[in-house]
Amino acid sequence: LIQSVSAAERLDSRGKPTVQVTLTTEKGRFSSLVPSGASKGDYEAIELRDGDNSRYHGQGVTNAVKNVIDTLGPKLIAKKFCVGTQQREIDDFMCELDGSDDKSALGANAILGISMAVARAGAAAKGVPLYEHLAQVADRNSPYVLPVPFFNVLNGGVHSGNPMAFQEMMVAPVGATSMKEAVRWGSETYQSLKSIITSKFGKSAIGIGDEGGFAPPTSEPHEALDLLIAAIKDAGHEGKIKIGVDPASQEFYEEKSGTYNLGMKWDTAKSLSKEEMRTLYHKLLDKYPIVLLEDPFGQDDWEAWTAFNEECPVELVGDDLLATNIRRIEEAHEKKACNALLLKINQIGSITESIDAAKRAYELGWSVFVSHRSGETTDDFIADLTVALATGHLKSGSPCRGERVAKYNRLMDIEDELEARNIPNKFAGVGFRTAHQA
Ligand code: PGA
Ligand code: ZN
Repeated sequence: LIQSVSAAERLDSRGKPTVQVTLTTEKGRFSSLVPSGASKGDYEAIELRDGDNSRYHGQGVTNAVKNVIDTLGPKLIAKKFCVGTQQREIDDFMCELDGSDDKSALGANAILGISMAVARAGAAAKGVPLYEHLAQVADRNSPYVLPVPFFNVLNGGVHSGNPMAFQEMMVAPVGATSMKEAVRWGSETYQSLKSIITSKFGKSAIGIGDEGGFAPPTSEPHEALDLLIAAIKDAGHEGKIKIGVDPASQEFYEEKSGTYNLGMKWDTAKSLSKEEMRTLYHKLLDKYPIVLLEDPFGQDDWEAWTAFNEECPVELVGDDLLATNIRRIEEAHEKKACNALLLKINQIGSITESIDAAKRAYELGWSVFVSHRSGETTDDFIADLTVALATGHLKSGSPCRGERVAKYNRLMDIEDELEARNIPNKFAGVGFRTAHQA
């Protein structure tokens, strides 16, 4: 039973306020911290911000905090829910209390904070680790899967101040045989990249972006990818580390003209039509060992998505396109727009709905890629969720900065724990797209 629910305004990794929830049961205290994006899509659930310009430039979350303390908390306590068995009922009840389509009444940040803390309390009620509890909530009993980490080692777009329009260039150690080996390879490649950037652009170029990746003064995608290739080679992992790219193109999509402006960050127009973008992606796919492409087109540019999906030889992930929302997932499936779901818990705003979105994606024959946000916290919830859902891959930024490595460290802990408990598990490796099918 839930005894008390409290909340407070705390900071995220960008130094902006976010919601912390603390809930108590007879088993103890359980907390959560809510993440927040920068390149947000229009179809995401609404995180409540105060808009009071006298505090935190309007970014305060005291109203969301109040909604936890005055509304959601007392009503949940009165219902005498069982945290160990009623995650779904609790999440449904909070959605009903909110009453809106996008959680704009009480705030997705308020609801998600409680939902995460409830899951932690539920695991403790049953006396099992969070990943085990979440697998049960999701009705999964196939072996646990440790994911291939996609390390975002070069940051561009709205995550950094360099001229690169593309937001994320990721290295993925698909050839590793364990989580710990994958993390080591990622770290080694990151350090190699640092040396390469230093020798090419000087020491002042090794500053990092929001997700802990470097942000050197490159602008063209192929220059950035050449740096990655050189780093992978220097670290000795050629052929075994592949690449993922998230241009987050909604940020440079100009709806009126239907074009993509790669010059958006240096105030010069370098606009490409959808056809030119398609050609650019094909060129990159031909030249580099890319295994994943996310949001290559804008969130409503369905035509471009569908045309590209027909000919795309790699995993095509919908982030802003889908917003972890089942209605958008189904629309995209009907339109044959992509073949994978990016799963961000705060895009939809509860753990039950996140699990439902992943399961729906699986039913449709898609893969699922779990993701942090660019504004993160030290909360490592998504590590357990990834293992529970056997999604086979996750992105949590570079192997640098506390809020990023919190997830990678937790995944290595889980790997050790599963070994120690003698529980069947595997590292996803090259089969990361279909790891859930085992
Ligand atoms: P965001 O970026 O968290 O700033 O939205 C992440 C992404 O686009 O995948
Ligand atoms: Zn994205």
